[in-house]
Amino acid sequence: MSVLFTPKKIGEVEVRNRFVHAATYESMAEEDGKVTDMLIDRYSRLARGEVGLIVTGIAIVHPLGNVPGRAIGIHDDAMIPGLRRLVNAVHEHGARIFIQLLHAGAQTNRRAIGRMPLAPSFIGPNPMYLNFARPMREGEIKEAIRAFGEAARRAAEAGADGVHVAASGGYLLNEFLSPYFNRRKDEWGGSDENRFRIMREVILEVRKHLAPGMALTVKLTANDYTPRDGMTTPLAARYARWMAELGIDALEIASGCTTYSGWHIWRGGVPVRELVKDLPAWQKPVAWLKFRSMAGKYDFSGPYNLEDARVVKAAVGEVPFILVGGLRHLSQMEEILKEGVAEFVALSRPLIREPNLVKKFREGRAERSSCISCNKCFAEIVHRRPLRCMA
Ligand SMILES: Cc1cc2nc3c(=O)[nH]c(=O)nc-3n(C[C@H](O)[C@H](O)[C@H](O)COP(=O)(O)O)c2cc1C
Repeated sequence: MSVLFTPKKIGEVEVRNRFVHAATYESMAEEDGKVTDMLIDRYSRLARGEVGLIVTGIAIVHPLGNVPGRAIGIHDDAMIPGLRRLVNAVHEHGARIFIQLLHAGAQTNRRAIGRMPLAPSFIGPNPMYLNFARPMREGEIKEAIRAFGEAARRAAEAGADGVHVAASGGYLLNEFLSPYFNRRKDEWGGSDENRFRIMREVILEVRKHLAPGMALTVKLTANDYTPRDGMTTPLAARYARWMAELGIDALEIASGCTTYSGWHIWRGGVPVRELVKDLPAWQKPVAWLKFRSMAGKYDFSGPYNLEDARVVKAAVGEVPFILVGGLRHLSQMEEILKEGVAEFVALSRPLIREPNLVKKFREGRAERSSCISCNKCFAEIVHRRPLRCMA
């Protein structure tokens, strides 16, 4: 039997195979963040389709870290009953579930949070949201750290198997870790050790609130692609080693931060027409120019985080590694595991198209995903419609 279908533990959590559903924002929660039947249906289908571990899409830990749209909320105890229903639905079909904890930092807007977004430092206008964010005060940083801990407690009360902390995508923790975004001169910036401080505090705070046996994993951006050096692979490796020393249970590497680096995260097509067509008329010309200028620059290129993974994996030793990004062929995934670059493979877009892909792989009914990485699924969530494959 292929190693892909053998069980393995993440911390104390045994996962039935090596297939992970990579965190994918579903745009399916209620306006206030509560879990809906649509979300339960989506995750039940993935669990029935034999995914081993489901990482949910972003779950917002603090109202000021919200994103525009319909993300899952984990910022309030009122969210717990819905999250519990979600967890139970996944467990019913033998899969494990980790909730992805996120604070959006600067990557949001006034409409989503009711005031100016928060960031480590003042940078200038955000190229996607076209707004400004203001530097956080010490008390606000501590409040954000506590919010991650409280969110972990809610995940535990909901019965989740673990939490997956997002230090990726250009969001708050990614911003603090990155020398491009973090220009602070106090104890939260100015050196790698200081930039890492918030991450250290979040890991310790989250761990304090998890139930025994729950796992704590992290998604870390290895490359920001910002105008000047931000996160780079060697820096990611350094941070990853510190996270390993703090006892995280698994690490996943990503690339790109959403608003500065275009499509590095989800390499493939830039569906200009779909991205622009439902925008208000006044936004269309600028958006068209922006997306048009990106087209053809992020062509799909197989497992595109592999080189970063090789470097970062070497820094974390025995900590299980989850590889995401461009994995489409079963044979390729098997090679990656055999080579020892990763212990788990994570898929996002392929599972939007075929939630039962893992089952198909196991039954020998497919050797590759039929996802064409057109990214029209992404255009759907940009327009706040529920996630679905549009190809
Ligand atoms: C529609 C969409 C939504 C996504 N939402 C999230 C998210 O909520 N959290 C996250 O960490 N990554 C998110 N990602 C990135 C994926 O987890 C993954 O890293 C990326 O799509 C590359 O994997 P793939 O080639 O298997 O799609 C999203 C990707 C897509 C296409």
